[in-house]
Amino acid sequence: MSNDGVNKGRRRFLVGATSVVGAVGAVGVATPFVASWNPSAKALAAGAPATADVSKLEPGQQMTVEWRGKPVWIVNRTQDMLDNLEQVEERLSDPTSTERSNLQQPQYAQNQYRSRNPQYLVVIGICTHLGCSPTYRPEVAPSDLGEDWVGGFFCPCHGSRFDLAGRVYSGMPAPTNLEVPPYSFESETTIIVGVDEENA
Ligand code: FES
Repeated sequence: MSNDGVNKGRRRFLVGATSVVGAVGAVGVATPFVASWNPSAKALAAGAPATADVSKLEPGQQMTVEWRGKPVWIVNRTQDMLDNLEQVEERLSDPTSTERSNLQQPQYAQNQYRSRNPQYLVVIGICTHLGCSPTYRPEVAPSDLGEDWVGGFFCPCHGSRFDLAGRVYSGMPAPTNLEVPPYSFESETTIIVGVDEENA
């Protein structure tokens, strides 16, 4: 009788111990699966779209939103600024952005304005030379940039000049135009960077 009791007790303990090990094992197996299935908060943040409210962006003004850790500039271009884009074309390296190295824009931005809506430029604010941040210089003929400057972006690191469509001038260290990210208009005054027809 006493042996039976001991054995039963031991059996109960062994069953219980096996269940615990089984449960631990199951958790151990399940955890890596869940971890690989759910993107991390960091990954989600890196790919999250950025929303820009341009309703208060005055004509001629620039604003910056961060998308995937990069600055994205939005400029509300005036009619004068748009007219000046034509004036400078002869001095640009690739005004139509059609050279292979210059296809860094979605199809809807493959036009003279490099944008979906000529009024708004949306461009990644990183110099295509060595990654400095160019400066927004919308003035016409400022003394430090010369009489033929009609507004654009100037990179202080090695002097690359871009027009107000992010197109690089000829003979600059920067090899290509500034990159246009994917984006769309959620409303007339709300731009979503990172989301378009191909990037839902
Ligand atoms: S990094 Fe802009 S010109 Fe060199």
